[in-house]
Amino acid sequence: MVDEWMKISEIQSGKYTGKEVEVRGWIYRTRSSGKIVFVILRDSSGIIQIPVGKNDVGEPQFKGAKKALVESSVIARGVVREDSRAPGGFEITANYFEVVHFAEKFPITKDQSDEFLLDNRHLWLRSRELNSTFKIRSTVFKGFHDFFSERGFYEIQSPSFVTGACEGGSTLFEVKYTDEKTVYLTQSWQLYAEAMMFSLEKIYTIAPSFRAEKSRTRRHVTEFWHAEVEAAWFHNEDMMKLVEELIVYLCELILEKHLPELEVLNRDPEKLKVVTTPFERVKYRKVLDILRDKGIELEWGDDFGYVEEKALTLERDQPFFITHFPLSKGFYHRPDPEEPDSLLCHDLLAPEGYGEIVGGGERIWEPEVLMKRFEEENLDAENYSWYLDLRKYGSVPHSGFGLGLERALSWFIGSDHIKNVIPFPRTMRRTSP
Ligand code: 4AD
Ligand code: MG
Repeated sequence: MVDEWMKISEIQSGKYTGKEVEVRGWIYRTRSSGKIVFVILRDSSGIIQIPVGKNDVGEPQFKGAKKALVESSVIARGVVREDSRAPGGFEITANYFEVVHFAEKFPITKDQSDEFLLDNRHLWLRSRELNSTFKIRSTVFKGFHDFFSERGFYEIQSPSFVTGACEGGSTLFEVKYTDEKTVYLTQSWQLYAEAMMFSLEKIYTIAPSFRAEKSRTRRHVTEFWHAEVEAAWFHNEDMMKLVEELIVYLCELILEKHLPELEVLNRDPEKLKVVTTPFERVKYRKVLDILRDKGIELEWGDDFGYVEEKALTLERDQPFFITHFPLSKGFYHRPDPEEPDSLLCHDLLAPEGYGEIVGGGERIWEPEVLMKRFEEENLDAENYSWYLDLRKYGSVPHSGFGLGLERALSWFIGSDHIKNVIPFPRTMRRTSP
């Protein structure tokens, strides 16, 4: 019978009190005392207590309820009662309790190591923490789509097999494509986006990017979901305005839809409430001074790693932009005509120690400047011939950015590790389950 059954959260809204309902889910906890089994059932929406009494459901179903272990799947019917002692404030007194499948002893119990939980990720996905995390993840993905489609951006896709680096050769994954040919997995859609931009002007995508990251930190995975944007006629500052608006939009969306999930995750909603535009913009040069004051000595040209970004953001409660990085940041960024040793680009750093979540900027659009940068960076212009072509046929100023969705999510929910926000995390050491 696939008639109507309710989500547990609907029942907890109170509108079914005194009525008979059906729920379907999995046993979250169970204990029995004499003639009653107290089952806590979970579904995707929440948990609810179901007392199963021998006299209410009859001997065979009662026996089933008594025997059923945690994670057994169940269809139950009964009348909803308000009960302030029950989790969620309601319970369903069962008059029907069918165990659809009797689960074996569930391998995950309390207090297990991170490694054990990762080995059993296929089962741990059912936890309340991951359930709440993935609901927020879903909202963030949809929020990104909505934000850009409402602003006239088209969604468009780029290939995952590529022949050249966008973000430096050291993190490229090689793929044996044919016996003769090796290609790489994409690090970013950007170079392709710049081509598509000439047709659609304002574009975005959400797609996996791949980086063979040797660094084992709480913010690196080898496969992450990359939300990227490219727009014609946009300068660096125009793009930064869009980025900060997006971040506030996502924070507000999470607050509007996910207070219960934030509670499960122990995340103080205030941390998202305080986020307001405009975000501070600080030049790289100045950041070197700030770091020096904190006892970290870096030279012009050095990149910021996890340690530096943690020091820069730990005491902040607002994200902020770093702009005007040195030329070594990347070959495609446009040098600032007013400060030729610095680039018109931006990183957005999330507060509370999280660090970089966005990398973006204005692209070089004059062919001569691009040729010069290829030379300075020792890049073979041959490998980028089609990219150079784009600068020959009606080149225009343009900018874009890439947001690491797992990085942003980690901060939004206050997670201590990026692997907590992706269903099956991939690192250099882990490719299964
Ligand atoms: O700063 P990145 O390397 O910038 C680019 O790829 C540009 N081409 C994007 C663009 O302008 N279209 O990467 C962008 C973001 C980073 O800020 C970070 O949030 C995320 O991608 N990211 C990672 N996230 C998780 N694990 C990794 N190994 C990541 N590497 C980058
Ligand atoms: Mg970056």
